[in-house]
This record gives sequence, C-alpha cells and structure tokens, in this order.
Amino acid sequence: MNLPETITYYPIQDYGPMMKGMAIGGLGIFHVFLAQFAIGGGMLMCYFQWLQSRGQLPQGRKFLDGYFKALVLVSFVVGALTGVGMWFTSIQVSPRTIGMMVDTFHWLWAIEWTFFSLEIAAGYAFYRYGDVLEDAMRMKLLVLYSVASWFSLFWINGILSWQLTPGQWVDNGDIWAGFFNPSFWPSLIFRTLVCMALGSLAAMVVINTMKISDDDRRTLIGKAAHLLAPMALMPVIGAWFMAVIPADSRAWALGGSAVMTNFLMIAIGASALLGAYAAIWLVWRKMSISIATAVLLCALAFGATAGGEFVREGVRKPFTVRQTLYSNAIAPDEVASLRQIGSVTHDPYPLADDARYPNDQLRLGAKVYRFQCSVCHTLGGANGVLHLMGTWSPQQQRLNVARLQHTKAFMPPFAGNAAELEALVQLTRWMVEDEPEQWPISNDPAVMASIEQMLKDAGTAPGEEPAMRKARQRKEAKR
Ligand code: HEC
Repeated sequence: MNLPETITYYPIQDYGPMMKGMAIGGLGIFHVFLAQFAIGGGMLMCYFQWLQSRGQLPQGRKFLDGYFKALVLVSFVVGALTGVGMWFTSIQVSPRTIGMMVDTFHWLWAIEWTFFSLEIAAGYAFYRYGDVLEDAMRMKLLVLYSVASWFSLFWINGILSWQLTPGQWVDNGDIWAGFFNPSFWPSLIFRTLVCMALGSLAAMVVINTMKISDDDRRTLIGKAAHLLAPMALMPVIGAWFMAVIPADSRAWALGGSAVMTNFLMIAIGASALLGAYAAIWLVWRKMSISIATAVLLCALAFGATAGGEFVREGVRKPFTVRQTLYSNAIAPDEVASLRQIGSVTHDPYPLADDARYPNDQLRLGAKVYRFQCSVCHTLGGANGVLHLMGTWSPQQQRLNVARLQHTKAFMPPFAGNAAELEALVQLTRWMVEDEPEQWPISNDPAVMASIEQMLKDAGTAPGEEPAMRKARQRKEAKR
C-alpha cells in the first residue's frame, strides 16, 4: 500500500462554472482538428504535385502555392499556438497524468518532436523556395513534409491510445507493449482517414478563393474529392476500434452514458452526411461546390472531430491512464490509505475563496471537492455537484458518495475518510440553502459511524459497469 506522503499535491486551477475537461477539450479539439488538417494537407499536396508533374493538372502549381500558404498560416501558426496552449492547460488540470506520460514515454515523445521539427523545416523550405524550385525538388520537399507530419501522428498516437488501452504494459511495464497497444492501429488508421478528409475539405475552400475558370475549378475540386473516398473505410475501422476498447468504455459510448452516446451519434451522423455529400455530388454527379458549402462542410467535419474526440476522452473515465491513474490523479492502490489518513490532510494549498465559508468543516469539504471531484465536476456550474445531488436527502448523499464507484462506475471510489465525506455533504447542503452566514458543524458520532460502515461496504476497488462484469465473468468461465 502506498503511503499518502507519496502523493504530490499540485495547485489546482479553477475555471469557475466551466468544467476542467471543457477547458482542455475545447482547446484540444481545435488543436487536433488543425494538426490533422496539416497532415492531410501534406498528403493532398503530394497528390496534386504528382498529378501536375504528369501533366494532368494544369492549375496544380497555382493551387499548391495558394494552399500551402493557407496551410502554413493556419496550421503552423494557430496549430503551434494551440499546441503550446494544450501543454499549458493540461499541466494545470492533470499534472500527475502528464508527468506520468512524460516519464513513461520520455524518448519516444522526444522522437515525436524530431519529426515535428522535420515537418516544420521541410514546410518552411517549401514556403520560402517552393516557387523557384523544379517539380522534382518540390515533390521531394512535399513528401518529406508529409511523411514527417504523419510520423508525428504515429508517435503521439501511441501515447494517447495507451491512455485508454495500456494493454500488456500494465502487467510488464514494457513501453513498446504500451506504445503498440490494442487500440494503436485502429486509431492511427482512423485518424489518417480523418486527416485526408480534412485536407480535402480545406482544399475545396482554397480552390474557391482562386481566380480561375469554372472548368478548372470543377477539375480541381474533383481531384481534391479523391481524398474523401477513403472515408468509406471509416465504419470498418471505427468498429475495429470499438471492438478493442474495454467493455465498459464501449458500454458508455453505446448507451451506458447518454452524453457519450449522443456525442458518438453526432460524430457518426456528421461523418455520414459528409461522406454521402462527397459521394453523390462530387464524385458521382461531378458537381462543383461554392465557398459557402465548402466552409459548411469543414464546419461539419469540425463537429465530427469534436464529437469523436469527446467520446474518446470521455470513455476513458474514471481513469486518465487505465487501471493506473484515476482522472482525479489518485492511483487505485492509494485509495485505501487515503481513506484512513484523509485525502487532503497533507494538501498544502489554501482555498482561493477561503473567506467565503462560515466554518472549517465547509472549508474541508471544499478542499475534498477540489482534490477528488473538481476534475470532472464544478460545484454549481457544468456537471455541478449541486445540480446532481442537491435534491437528495443527507443520508442519500452520504450513501451515494460513499459508494461513488458503484453509483456510477465512471467515477473513481471516494478516497477520503468519513469526516471528509461528511464535510462534502455539508458543503452541498450549505450551498442548497443559499450559503447562510452561520452553519452548524455536523459531527454526530452515530452519523460518522454509519459513514465509516458505508465506505467499508463500498470497498476500494474500482466500480464495475454491468457490461464489464459480464465480460469478466465470460472470461473466467472460459478458464
Ligand atoms: C472521472 C470523472 C468524475 C469524478 C472524479 C467524479 N465524478 Fe461524479 N460524475 C461524473 C459524471 C460524468 C457523472 C454523470 C453526470 C450525468 O449523468 O449527467 C457524475 C455523476 C455524479 C453524481 C450523480 C450520480 C447519479 O447517479 O445521479 C454525483 C452525486 C456525483 N457525480 C458526485 C461526485 C463527487 C462528490 C465526486 C468527488 C468525490 C465525484 N462525483 C467525482 C464524473 C466524475
């Protein structure tokens, strides 16, 4: 059992009524969208350069230079800024997780950066000298850019997919087993398809800004639409991904959590619409599209990306690294000792709004909330604890929080002592009563004893979603 002294407390950022996940998610989705566009854009340019060098695309060169400027401007500048922004927010929200990822994948992550540097160098060289170079040299630079950007996806994909499906790494600590984990290939292939689709859609916007004849425009759009064709594989790869993720994660996405299911449906619906549009209008009917439509399609793709990323992040709950670290940065094997010593007994950081609370019990409750719940909840805002349990009786609140991992298996077990749990309940009650200036201390020994018992009954193991239990029982029956 780990001693709580081994837990490092970090200062925790408070974004008010906005959930921490929304801060990371909002920025993250934007960043992923741009980064994937940069990769797909590279592929598209290679394709166009190749067509042009074979004399099949007279407008190719003009398009390439225009497209590349847009790509550089948007993805290098905004992509790099949001990338730094991602680091900045994620270390505020999940410092322990980020620390663990960096520790585990140190050199592999460094490799990702070497490819990113190569991508930037090749991209810059093309940006600067592309228009004076021969076709063969342009092709080489574009291929270098494209391969480098795809490989930066390759490396980061191993680290991100490891969070959801760490695979054999959990047992043997082998980082290659963690890197080439069960969801590595389906998510890499799926993302590659997304990249191509985004590169293609962005091309349609750029083509519409060019001063060319309608015929040329139709030709260019027709060629750009070719990169939408691989989208047809999405259902298969998506199903592969769903098949390899843990049974409970799958269950959240497929009905277990209404929010997750809705987002998944949005992602699938938006992708299907896009695919159908591309197939019917652009490929079969060989129609052109206007700039307004092209922008709208990009927005639809953004919606699909947002939905997909939201689900991918969401179904990992209650973990940031499955079986290893809960979302609130507590490791599963630390829960039992934190129950005895108290989760915030050694938390050195004062509350930002200390003076707001009438007594120390409520302050304790606020600290417990901050440490254990605030990564997924707010108090009164988005996914607010107040909304979720404000209507419950005190006893109902005690029971459901003591049994948190059984109340909803996507929450970690409560990792504090009885006094901390009661403090959290009192905090909620005080807020429900509109935060009066006087609030009595609740320390009835009978209540405390009953909480102790509830915590004991709940146990310290993670909860088990029914689908997960069935999967486990099936596995055990086979042995
Ligand atoms: C890993 C993220 C996560 C953590 C950590 C977490 N929760 Fe939750 N909790 C959720 C989600 C997601 C829901 C579902 C909200 C919904 O159904 O709209 C939820 C629901 C709840 C509910 C309502 C349950 C129901 O069945 O109606 C309560 C009460 C609750 N949480 C309290 C807490 C408390 C107290 C803590 C801290 C001790 C906590 N949660 C920690 C994610 C989390």
